[in-house]
Amino acid sequence: MKKALDGIRVLDMTHVQSGPSCTQLLAWLGADVIKVELPGRGDITREQLRDIPNVDSLYFTMLNGNKRSLTLNTKKPEGKEIFEALIKHCDVLVENFGPGVLDRQGFTWEKIQELNPRMIYASIKGFGPGKFEDAKAYEPIAQAMGGSMSTNGWEDGPPTVTGVQTGDSGTGIHTVASVLAALYQRDQHTGKGQRIVCTMQDSVLNLCRVKMRDQQRLAHGPLTEYPNKTFNGVVPRSGNASGGGQPGAALKCAPGGTNDYVYLIIQPQVWKALCEEMGRPELITDPKFATPAARLPILAEVWDIVESWTKLHTKYEILDRCNAIDVPCGPVLDMSELLVDESLRARGMVAAVEHPERGTYYTIGSPLNLSDSPVEYRPSPLLGEHCAEVLQEVMHYDAKKVEELRAAGVI
Ligand SMILES: CC(C)(COP(=O)(O)OP(=O)(O)OC[C@H]1O[C@@H](n2cnc3c(N)ncnc32)[C@H](O)[C@@H]1OP(=O)(O)O)[C@@H](O)C(=O)NCCC(=O)NCCS
Repeated sequence: MKKALDGIRVLDMTHVQSGPSCTQLLAWLGADVIKVELPGRGDITREQLRDIPNVDSLYFTMLNGNKRSLTLNTKKPEGKEIFEALIKHCDVLVENFGPGVLDRQGFTWEKIQELNPRMIYASIKGFGPGKFEDAKAYEPIAQAMGGSMSTNGWEDGPPTVTGVQTGDSGTGIHTVASVLAALYQRDQHTGKGQRIVCTMQDSVLNLCRVKMRDQQRLAHGPLTEYPNKTFNGVVPRSGNASGGGQPGAALKCAPGGTNDYVYLIIQPQVWKALCEEMGRPELITDPKFATPAARLPILAEVWDIVESWTKLHTKYEILDRCNAIDVPCGPVLDMSELLVDESLRARGMVAAVEHPERGTYYTIGSPLNLSDSPVEYRPSPLLGEHCAEVLQEVMHYDAKKVEELRAAGVI
């Protein structure tokens, strides 16, 4: 069966996390992704956070599956010639270098359009045009400047970075959406490529949309669903409060380990069933607890009562009991539990991959589930693994020429 992006070729000049997370999704959707890497070193993450000596790190392998690797020095004249041919050969160019890197090598948007008017050229940068456009960015910087850090953590603690990589992988997903829309526009309407710039600050801010909603609500009074008592004109950090229309909290479970918690939400319609399940039927009609409006100002007391029940059971028992009575809840699952989770394994969301040097490793699979474009997980490429193959295809070079280029440090 053909994949969704069969026939689409991606020239991948990405490194670290944001860009590679985008091009890996494109590869999983069926695009031919040619990752161009600096000869001798490649993507810096190949050697960062290594767990096995001299073997590509999990940092690299988990973000570069299903791609081909071509080493190419795009600063050398012969390297530029090959890169120009690749631009003509591909549909999409994705890069996430520091600002201006490809321009300095002579590959401006004007030049790229001249070489291939159908080329879609997507860049990931820290910031959009303005004061910060020349600044480099990493995940926590984007979380700091996109609104995430100021709204995450506890009221009496410092602004806090989250484990969710909204700046890196979040921007990768926004870039995938942009590339797919541009491919549609090119193929259905204009016949031309276009320029895309996705910024990490914008992506984090987009994912903090509800916090900007609350910032504007503050003009009309305090946010009653927040546990905070003071606001000082700004959306505060509110720990584990749900921040949505329904109150929620993380509650301790047995046997009391670091991640023995369940997140539980009290919808108005489940209060009766929850009270019965907890063995506290008197709370159903007690005017102090009977309605959402009555409970709102005393949520801390409500959560104490519910927690005195959750603490008697494991998080999985609470999940089963809550599911049986339609109370929304989720056990806090840690990475060791997710890695072996049967349903994630069965769906390929945690997928085993065979790597020629590393052996078996597990990658987080594709969350894009298309019934007619199933993903086959292939390992990340070794550095320069596909040099001969790609140069034969694009430049019609033979093995001798490839060796000459290798000796000259071009590939
Ligand atoms: C992540 C980041 C901070 C890393 O900065 P860095 O390590 O200084 O790397 P840069 O991307 O700025 O530059 C890489 C250099 O290697 C060179 N290089 C990389 N691949 C090359 C190749 N195949 N051939 C020749 N040169 C190459 C570049 O030309 C550049 O050299 P220059 O500065 O002399 O022009 C920066 O790339 C960045 O801000 N990217 C945009 C935001 C982003 O994606 N951040 C999150 C990463 S998860």
